[in-house]
Amino acid sequence: MEVVKSINEMKQKMRLIKATGKKIGLVPTMGYLHEGHRSLIDRAREENEVVVVSIFVNPTQFGPNEDFDKYPRDEERDLELCSAAGCDIVFLPDKDSMYSDNYSTYVEVPSLTETLCGASRPGHFKGVATVVTKLLNIAKADRAYFGQKDAQQLAVIKRIVKDLDMDVDIVGCPIVREGDGLAKSSRNTYLNAVERQQAIVLYKALKQAKKLVNNGVVDAQAIKKEIRTIIDTALDSDIDYIEIVNNDTMKPIDVIAGEVLIALAVRIGKTRLIDNMMVVLQ
Ligand code: PAJ
Repeated sequence: MEVVKSINEMKQKMRLIKATGKKIGLVPTMGYLHEGHRSLIDRAREENEVVVVSIFVNPTQFGPNEDFDKYPRDEERDLELCSAAGCDIVFLPDKDSMYSDNYSTYVEVPSLTETLCGASRPGHFKGVATVVTKLLNIAKADRAYFGQKDAQQLAVIKRIVKDLDMDVDIVGCPIVREGDGLAKSSRNTYLNAVERQQAIVLYKALKQAKKLVNNGVVDAQAIKKEIRTIIDTALDSDIDYIEIVNNDTMKPIDVIAGEVLIALAVRIGKTRLIDNMMVVLQ
């Protein structure tokens, strides 16, 4: 496994690989890797001849009062995980080379980012969209892998690739959960023991919502109310949003029909957790 830090070296290396006709799979990450990331790497390994994992805690997607400085980092452990997963190249650019002093170009997808995390984290998706576009350009990937865990991020990236005619397939991968249902996340490490136990309620509430839909409840307000009650009863939480949206447009819906995304963000103590579930009503 090779570790590449320079953007120019990476571009040159990828150009040579591309010329051989080998398929390149990219897994963009911010590190502190867990089994969720691992599932993306495994999928990329199955489908491509060359697997690239990028590790870059991207400053432009963090708001001024967010956790950029204290975001968990463990480069050594991450490299071990990548190597064990059979990854070929790890791309580890630094902040100053990705964003030079006169950096001025950003990618924005306003129509998909007015709701959910886009509403509560202004500028977040502009940073995500920009860095992912840059990473796709540098790695010259044929396929890039993203988790359904960040459903709005996945929708934004799919839209960028479509709108800008980029030559890459975006592959969405299922959410990997802990044994008790909590979605794996690098930020779970912020939770203390009590909060960790309380966090299970997010998945419980989503499962209950799905059950209600399967039992014929199609009124989105009623389902959101039930989710809120379940969460409020379990913990002294600070609910950021509970929303039911169309999975392509990320626009809220009133009546459930077809494929919808039930998404929520809850602050437990100082930690903001997100989770979601796709529900299909035929
Ligand atoms: P990060 O949070 O490190 O996540 C990297 C990728 O792993 C994302 O596609 C995310 O959806 C996926 N992932 C995280 N937890 C998962 C889980 N429990 N199950 C399945 N997939 C999971 O998302 C980012 O980084 C950044 O925004 C990035 C796209 C790298 C741009 O900076």
